[in-house]
Amino acid sequence: MLKGLLYTHFVSVILFLLIYMIKTFLLLTNKKEALVKFTKIVKVPEMIISVLFLATGVYLLMQFGLTNLLLIKIVVVLLSIPIAIVGFKKSNKILALISFLMIFSAFGLGEVNKKKMAKQNVDPAIADTKNPNYDITKHGEAVFTAYCQRCHGTGGTNGPGGLVLTVTTTDRATKLDRVINGTNLMAGFKDVLNPQEIEAVVTYVETLKK
Ligand code: HEC
Repeated sequence: MLKGLLYTHFVSVILFLLIYMIKTFLLLTNKKEALVKFTKIVKVPEMIISVLFLATGVYLLMQFGLTNLLLIKIVVVLLSIPIAIVGFKKSNKILALISFLMIFSAFGLGEVNKKKMAKQNVDPAIADTKNPNYDITKHGEAVFTAYCQRCHGTGGTNGPGGLVLTVTTTDRATKLDRVINGTNLMAGFKDVLNPQEIEAVVTYVETLKK
């Protein structure tokens, strides 16, 4: 379900930006009639898209938690709304352009937010491969708790559907690739985790399969 929500959010953001971009372009190029026509055509779809975008955004926020960058992004988007409304109502190009740039930069921040992931603490005793008691699954579990649990839940059991790792059908090699390079909605961990940590966490994820 979470996966579906993430897609819905992503697609509604793209559509929202697209409509917004066309409107701003029409305003800036003095295509008044076209702007009125376009605004009329997209009125209902735009409303649906905005609701989807906000509702999924709020839900995802509750799931993933708030980071500083995300907070800035939300403030920028909220501030841009009144500027946009006034800008289009008064056909004020400068205001329209400002609000457009604000929304676009917020989108850029969102992408940065997705890619940036801080190094977390994993107990060095568990991570020490030279220790005769080194257990790769335990190491993987510790890495999982530190990096993956917030999205995949304890033991990979989060939510009905999308992110559940216990019912996955992919093989080890695919999982390894997903963790290293990411998949469309999950950023890759190649810059955050070292190869041993990646091996360990995938070994652990393999044990979750029911
Ligand atoms: C920001 C949230 C998030 C974090 C953190 C995260 N994942 Fe994911 N993960 C996802 C999402 C969303 C998907 C589904 C992506 C898709 O298919 O588009 C996914 C997919 C996967 C898959 C593919 C499952 C399959 O069977 O195809 C694996 C394996 C996986 N994650 C492992 C991990 C591991 C291991 C970590 C920690 C190192 C991790 N994830 C951290 C969100 C996250």
